[in-house]
Amino acid sequence: MTHSRLCSTILAAMLLGGSVACDSADTLDDEDTTQDDSTLRGAAARHGLAMGVAVGTGLQRTDSRFAEVLGREFNILVAENTMKPAAIQPAQGVFSWDEADQLVAFAESRDMKVRGHTLLWHESLPSWMNSPTWSREQLLAILENHIKTLVGRYKGRVAAWDVVNEAVEWNGTLRETLWLNGIGPEYLEWVFRWAHEADPDALLFYNDYGAEGLGQKSDGVYNLLRDLLDAGVPVHGVGMQMHVAAASPPRMSDFKTNMARLANLGLQIHITEMDVRIPIPATDAGLVQQAVVYRDVLDACLAEDGCTGLLTWGLTDRHSWVPSSFEGYGSALLFDAEYQPKLAYQVMLDGLREAD
Ligand code: G3I
Repeated sequence: MTHSRLCSTILAAMLLGGSVACDSADTLDDEDTTQDDSTLRGAAARHGLAMGVAVGTGLQRTDSRFAEVLGREFNILVAENTMKPAAIQPAQGVFSWDEADQLVAFAESRDMKVRGHTLLWHESLPSWMNSPTWSREQLLAILENHIKTLVGRYKGRVAAWDVVNEAVEWNGTLRETLWLNGIGPEYLEWVFRWAHEADPDALLFYNDYGAEGLGQKSDGVYNLLRDLLDAGVPVHGVGMQMHVAAASPPRMSDFKTNMARLANLGLQIHITEMDVRIPIPATDAGLVQQAVVYRDVLDACLAEDGCTGLLTWGLTDRHSWVPSSFEGYGSALLFDAEYQPKLAYQVMLDGLREAD
């Protein structure tokens, strides 16, 4: 899609209200094959791309507009919080399944796949688990029981798991966590092997932020995954969270190079938590800048055979985590707070329709 076509999409959208100057934008794919796919779900299917969103606790149950847009526009979902350790096992040996069960049932009722998030993290741990007094053997037993109970419950119903979340520091070394300090680096092997034992058909991912492009952290993730694969550990993919600011996205050339080297290891790449934050209240220029980032990332993913999933961290700006974490920023998702598709949605739909 040429710059001029991106502009025509933007201008067409903006003609509904307000005007925008089409600054020079990155050249986008100039393919222009129009499809009759009227939803992201329909257009993504043509590429075999898992296209989805994170679902906040119970939203599919309590918000009818949310449920309608979710089932219409997406083919996969991930629990934003209801499958994290603190939600699943709030007390030792006490498992809380209701919310996760209902979300998985909703997905199946809409013929949607499910990503599981996350088996092991240094955050969202129940207080009983997050204790330095556990011995190495106790920590291993706690982890094995948690992982095999959770993955086993949804065997055949969760297509992919974020097995380990955010274990690498900015300098590429392993993050000092309860797990690394209490068990040693071998915890990483154990958790993937236990997840694979519990569901041999589930795709098992390592998931992180800030490692989408090239740099020390990205190299650290690459080296970690290469070493795990060399040791015969069942790792199938890498999740790139893609929490970015529209003004400073990863350099696309670095992102493409990084995806290619990970794909060369035989790994799938999922963009797992994309949101593109802009200053709020949103302006036309901010929405345009955001749309370009979404489209650039989509085009890069579609151009990389190994990139098989793209999920945003939320469906609508109404429920996004961004405003509470980045003061002065928000409007980071594809649908606004009234569930209306934004320019970024339209540009993504165009991108799916126009890609080969
Ligand atoms: O459910 C409780 C509620 O009962 C309580 O009244 C309230 C006030 O304490 O807290 C509620 O839990 C909050 C939960 O979100 C549900 O809203 C937790 O405190 C809060 O820490 C939690 O934040 C989540 C955060 O991960 C930590 O788990 C965010 O919603 C979620 O968007 C964020 O998602 C992470 C990914 O898992 C990993 N990648 C980064 C991403 C953004 O931080």
